Amino acid sequence: MANVTVIGAQWGDEGKGKLVDWLSNRADVVVRFQGGHNAGHTLVVGDQVYKLSLLPSGVVQGKLSVIGNGVVVDPWHLLEEIAKLGGQGVAVTPELLILADNACLILPLHKDLDQAREKAAIKKIGTTGRGIGPAYEDKVGRRAIRVADLADREALIAKIDRLLAHHGPLRRGLGLPEADGAALLAELEVIAPKVLPFAKPAWLHLNELVRAGRRVLFEGAQGALLDVDHGTYPYVTSSNTVAGQAAAGSGLGAKATGYILGIVKAYTTRVGEGPFPTELFDEIGQRIGEVGKEFGTVTGRARRCGWFDAALVRQSVALNGIAGIALTKLDVLDGFATLKICTGYRLGDQEFSYLPAGLKAQEQLVPVYEELEGWSDSTQGARSWRDLPANAVKYVRRIEELIGAPVALLSTSPQRDDTIMMRDPFAD
Ligand code: IMP
Repeated sequence: MANVTVIGAQWGDEGKGKLVDWLSNRADVVVRFQGGHNAGHTLVVGDQVYKLSLLPSGVVQGKLSVIGNGVVVDPWHLLEEIAKLGGQGVAVTPELLILADNACLILPLHKDLDQAREKAAIKKIGTTGRGIGPAYEDKVGRRAIRVADLADREALIAKIDRLLAHHGPLRRGLGLPEADGAALLAELEVIAPKVLPFAKPAWLHLNELVRAGRRVLFEGAQGALLDVDHGTYPYVTSSNTVAGQAAAGSGLGAKATGYILGIVKAYTTRVGEGPFPTELFDEIGQRIGEVGKEFGTVTGRARRCGWFDAALVRQSVALNGIAGIALTKLDVLDGFATLKICTGYRLGDQEFSYLPAGLKAQEQLVPVYEELEGWSDSTQGARSWRDLPANAVKYVRRIEELIGAPVALLSTSPQRDDTIMMRDPFAD
């Protein structure tokens, strides 16, 4: 039995939360390895809706859950999310949740910087405004405060000094008030005793679990096209979102990633700014958005919608090493007379089968489409392949051919049980 790594294969919001929740009863431990509370994972279990941003989706099923070193952690948000879940009857205790002691913290000054930059920018990135980018900047700049520092007052004082020496000029340049180091220290000392019980060497626990034959489910956040290296830079998030990061962001060796399951929406969406070749600006895009309830879990922003882009997902299959996909939200396409799939792009007289790296080129690409007949029957809630209309099956099969990866799972509604399994990712 392999481990499974679940990643978003488009621009995020593919429905990873539901699939991770569904798969987590086959796993022993669920691990987040990048991003922060910019993610929005919605889980629908019966009449309960759980909205998670930072906690691994496994907590809802009572699975051991790990926030790995690759995640940037807003400790105030973490405590809020734990309290909110507690209110819904899910007790997140240190027995259930491990927080990597070497993960870096998101502080209020990161959020200030993120929001002030977006406000001042002529060309905005469209971030979630939660401080993710500035926190990762401080991590690679070697001045971040890490979870373990919360247990060491002296280290904390020295690190705050170093951090403010960097942030002072930035804040002044953006017209923000001076950051108050003493107040920050006091705030961190208030939350430290609440956060520290979760703090452990996650890498060590994970390695022991793997050695004991336990199955790990890695839960990616965002999507491959938001990856800081491989995405539509600079309109990306600040972490590596591709599957390879699962190892580095958790402290397990590269082999641990196991079966890589790409979550793919049956059409395309994107929140925030940046290139989106198949974006629809007409009533079709509007209809997809309304039927698909395409509003951000974190920010409530309306998502941009467009046709399925097979060239983009084919690229994602390569970048992640995707073995199979989980196709979600097929039912949103019910009732369309015809559907379009993008198979590649044109730029002047050049043809591309992939997204070229240059931003200008990405913005000017003209999609090449093929048309397929739609279906009028509902696919919502289908629990077997046989329940699907013939044209829906054709649509799915054509996607498989074009992206070069098979459909392992098909999700036909937000409900946990409305999932058709073609092959068990843990069995591969
Ligand atoms: P940041 O991650 O807040 O820095 O935002 C950078 C870009 O990533 C923006 O376009 C966001 O809309 C996008 N983004 C961040 N997290 C998510 C997510 O969970 N789903 C979809 N887009 C996201």
